[in-house]
Amino acid sequence: MSKILVAYFSATGTTADAAKRLADAVKGDLFEIRPAVLYTAADLDWTDKHSRSTLEMKDPASRPEVSSHVDNMDQYDTVFVGFPIWWYVAPTIINTFLDEYDFSGKTVIPFATSGGSGMGKTLEEKSLGCIHKGGHSPINAVYDYAKQVESKQDLVIMDTPGNDPSSVAAMVAGGAQVVVFSSGRGTPTGNPIAPVIKLTGNKLTFAKMEDNIDFDASPLIYGTKTLEELGGDLLHIVVETACGKQTKAESLGFTEMAIARVCNYV
Ligand SMILES: Cc1cc2nc3c(=O)[nH]c(=O)nc-3n(C[C@H](O)[C@H](O)[C@H](O)COP(=O)(O)O)c2cc1C
Repeated sequence: MSKILVAYFSATGTTADAAKRLADAVKGDLFEIRPAVLYTAADLDWTDKHSRSTLEMKDPASRPEVSSHVDNMDQYDTVFVGFPIWWYVAPTIINTFLDEYDFSGKTVIPFATSGGSGMGKTLEEKSLGCIHKGGHSPINAVYDYAKQVESKQDLVIMDTPGNDPSSVAAMVAGGAQVVVFSSGRGTPTGNPIAPVIKLTGNKLTFAKMEDNIDFDASPLIYGTKTLEELGGDLLHIVVETACGKQTKAESLGFTEMAIARVCNYV
């Protein structure tokens, strides 16, 4: 049976309450990500340009020290990570926590409390999803944007922006002849050079965009198909596409393209 950890950081108790209720509901172990130096009310004053929280949140390299450590992270298959939203994202102490452990092969699920903002802006949230989507294979190389990828290396990754058309353009420039693009909220992305097969694990997104998304992976989440079955179905689509069958984006004529010029975060 899978073992669950509910890890959280909370400065004023709101996320702590949510985490306790979550841990009860999922029968998980509760773990507080405790700062080595606790945050005072003055530290949390977001109207003060020089308060500790403002300075930390302005500095992406900030990694506030923690005084608590998970004894044996290996025993957990699923890790919930809770935090208050600060300046629309996760506090940088969450990065301290994420940097400390190896999450490969684990399901990592973020949750947050806030005054009203959603988590949509958290790069951390996206990154946790990427760790999970990366699967279990070793990463054999990391390529710079649009660099030529050598063949027969199994899993490699490319440093691209999250932005759909500019990440696809880079992979095609690197030599990809068929692109398989996963999306939670849906995307119209196509490419003028290589076919883009789009898939989603979100049943609602597929229902809304069926005319534009090639593959519904949600049966895995709902337990009606296995990973092996869906993997076989997807491979079939990849082979058909490589043999000339049009993707949804191709049949709609969607071939927008963008090249990243500034940096990988915009
Ligand atoms: C420094 C700081 C920045 C914040 N930034 C946001 C924000 O961008 N959006 C928002 O909705 N709430 C923001 N809040 C409010 C907290 O997210 C909210 O009160 C949260 O539930 C507090 O959780 P906690 O009690 O577990 O620390 C901020 C709070 C602080 C202290």
